[in-house]
Amino acid sequence: MRDMTARQEIGEQELDEAHDAPLTETDFGKLAAKAISRRGFLSGGAAFAASAFVMSTGVLRPLVALAGASRLGFESVAANGLDTVTVPKGYGWHVVARWGDPMWSRGTEFDQKTRGTGASQELAFGDNNDGMALFNHRGRNVLAVNNEYVNRGIIFGGEGNKPRNADDVRKSKAAHGVSVMELRRKDGKWSIVKDSSYNRKITADTPMEITGPARGHDLLKTAADPAGTRSLGTWNNCGNGRTPWGTYLTCEENFDDYFSSVDANVKVSPEFKRYGVDAKDKYGWAMTDERFDIAKHPNEPNRAGYIVEIDPLDPESTPKKRTALGRFKHENAEVVLAANGQVVVYLGDDERGEFLYKFVSEGRYVVGGNNADLLEKGRLYVAKFADGGRGEWLELTPESTGMASMAEVCIHTRIAASAVKATTMDRPEWVAANPRKAEVYCALTNNKNRGKKANAGGDPTPVGGPNPRAGNLYGQIVRWRPDGGNHLANGFAWDLYVVAGNPSVHKDANAGSRNVNLDNMFNSPDGIAFDRNGMLWIQTDGNYSNAEGFAGQGNNQMLVGDPATGEIRRFLVGPRQCEVTGIAWSADGRTLFVGVQHPGEKGDSHFPDGGDTVPRSAVIGVTRDDGGLIG
Ligand code: FEO
Ligand code: CA
Ligand code: CA
Repeated sequence: MRDMTARQEIGEQELDEAHDAPLTETDFGKLAAKAISRRGFLSGGAAFAASAFVMSTGVLRPLVALAGASRLGFESVAANGLDTVTVPKGYGWHVVARWGDPMWSRGTEFDQKTRGTGASQELAFGDNNDGMALFNHRGRNVLAVNNEYVNRGIIFGGEGNKPRNADDVRKSKAAHGVSVMELRRKDGKWSIVKDSSYNRKITADTPMEITGPARGHDLLKTAADPAGTRSLGTWNNCGNGRTPWGTYLTCEENFDDYFSSVDANVKVSPEFKRYGVDAKDKYGWAMTDERFDIAKHPNEPNRAGYIVEIDPLDPESTPKKRTALGRFKHENAEVVLAANGQVVVYLGDDERGEFLYKFVSEGRYVVGGNNADLLEKGRLYVAKFADGGRGEWLELTPESTGMASMAEVCIHTRIAASAVKATTMDRPEWVAANPRKAEVYCALTNNKNRGKKANAGGDPTPVGGPNPRAGNLYGQIVRWRPDGGNHLANGFAWDLYVVAGNPSVHKDANAGSRNVNLDNMFNSPDGIAFDRNGMLWIQTDGNYSNAEGFAGQGNNQMLVGDPATGEIRRFLVGPRQCEVTGIAWSADGRTLFVGVQHPGEKGDSHFPDGGDTVPRSAVIGVTRDDGGLIG
């Protein structure tokens, strides 16, 4: 057992809690937990009452019975606490890439004792892989993968969770960002093509161009970049997106954790507070790179928290920070095309009581045209949900927010959204659009503050609408259908696809919705994505204690849901203390790539190599024994 500090033992799932500003007196601090009947809290979706998935019916019977034969063609996997990956009968899996695997032949194989150096990490796959996308180009397969953060208690190889010296910082920065690497399949298994001309490491030091409304704004100017147009690096890259024109979107989430100050009394503005930026140090980068010291470079934090667009096929290209899509703790970026070619991007801000957003491009996508800068200019909206199953998108403009300019809206987006009184959500994680119809889903992972504590901007978090439970520990998935089937419409109808819970422990709303049962129960939905058949894949990043309120739920997992019937079936269970995040398919649909992040984050895993080995985040490939299609 490693010697761990209490802070280190906080898993990623808990990080947002650690960021929260201390609660002062609010109306919600005194709010009693509101009892919600199992039948009552799902009734938001009156608009869908005619569908087979009648969620307002209180009878506890399996939805599958309503829907006839299941469309999920695999046998459910039982929940478990094993230190391995479990897949259905007739399926297998293999490791594609692990943290520290060299991407070039001049790199070195992962050293179990030292766990690598700055130099070896600069040539190797990063840590804590998250969102990813596979690009097929002239028969070559290029995987772009986010490397979200580092497990500080694991990466440095010594005791403790802080970098000890400059090389540790170098290693940490090189383990963040995006790994772009060619993959090749041999004997049914995929692996990294070392030295491929596609291979690229995008790290915390890679030059980026700042584009969009905030480009050149005074709040983005620094000593090293007086024009406010070029920044260095990307970090805490969580979920992802991909565009129809072949670029990769990486999403900067908890960017604030990397800033600190040697001056503990440094002034922390309300704007910094809203984003969690303060003097406290977590990753230690300011030790060698003073741009992470907010006392010395107070505008640096304004240059992080964006969507970054990357051309995965051109290692010489400069990644572009797209400020038009707003600055917040971005989860993923789900891109859809409106019928007229305008690009619509749905975006979640993953923190308790933050918001759900939509960007609409000014320009239109044209097949074969120049689409390179469609994400540079457009309109930004935030969601407001009403009870009764209706909602609307509120545009964020200088007029609607009282801000001085669109640049300011794009820098202080959370504050802009508060100004228009958007709906505070239960931590919006990934958004996924159904390829078969105009219908969009968002995982609301959990929010123990719901109905109890305001968000960091002081906005109330009342129980109701798509956030129906006080002190929500299990999470839910909301979905909406834009009016007229048009993603450009301001109005939408919504309902809850699933409310997670534990029916073995609870009889009330915490048992979950009718499509949750003893065989498929889970908590904290996070990554979600549709396959080509219109099935919804659901990955979890939740409580893996398998005890008390989470008894019987085992390790984090991946499930598949049928949008039409509501049926949900467990497909995969991850190893101990991991989260399952990141999903992509091979071009032929016969391999499903899945991310296993932070196995053993609290010391109890040797995934994937077993024995006494260091646990390592990994991308795995899941295949069918008969070589068939997955999903
Ligand atoms: Fe990086 Fe919200 O998960
Ligand atoms: Ca996530
Ligand atoms: Ca999460």
